[in-house]
Amino acid sequence: MAVENQCCCTQTNEAELYPELEKIIAEHQGKPEDLIMVLHKAQNLFGYLPRKVQEMVAEGLGVSLNEVYGVITFYAFFSTVPKGRHSVKVCLGTACYVRGGQRVIEKIKKELSLKVGGTTEDRRYSLDVVRCIGACGLSPAILVNDDVYGRVKITKLAEILERYE
Ligand code: FES
Repeated sequence: MAVENQCCCTQTNEAELYPELEKIIAEHQGKPEDLIMVLHKAQNLFGYLPRKVQEMVAEGLGVSLNEVYGVITFYAFFSTVPKGRHSVKVCLGTACYVRGGQRVIEKIKKELSLKVGGTTEDRRYSLDVVRCIGACGLSPAILVNDDVYGRVKITKLAEILERYE
């Protein structure tokens, strides 16, 4: 099951990050042209971009919240939900798609009870789709953290995922 909220211990940790975010924003105060750079720094800090962070960035840089949200949703590398400890990316580029990438992602969604873009409740895995990871000759391919798995067989997916605690 995917989660939208974090547990209380995560929130406590996050609270400690806000002074650091304030420093980052102060360095770019009133500079809307720095929006993407600041969002990158904020995501590196928090691991994702919660609503409160978006509001602080918008106010500090002098842009609307809508503009911030527009940038976040346009670029796939920004996330508004917390990411899991292990990033599972399924390639749906052309080569992988024609060789069963869609079946791979359906199986992983079922295996983890997860939607694309979501994170498991225990924050063990996040699931995303990518368009080519440079392993077309090994399609269908998936990426778990920095590990590429090629010629992925649906029957082996559970075993692959289990390797990541
Ligand atoms: S299309 Fe999947 S690795 Fe290139």
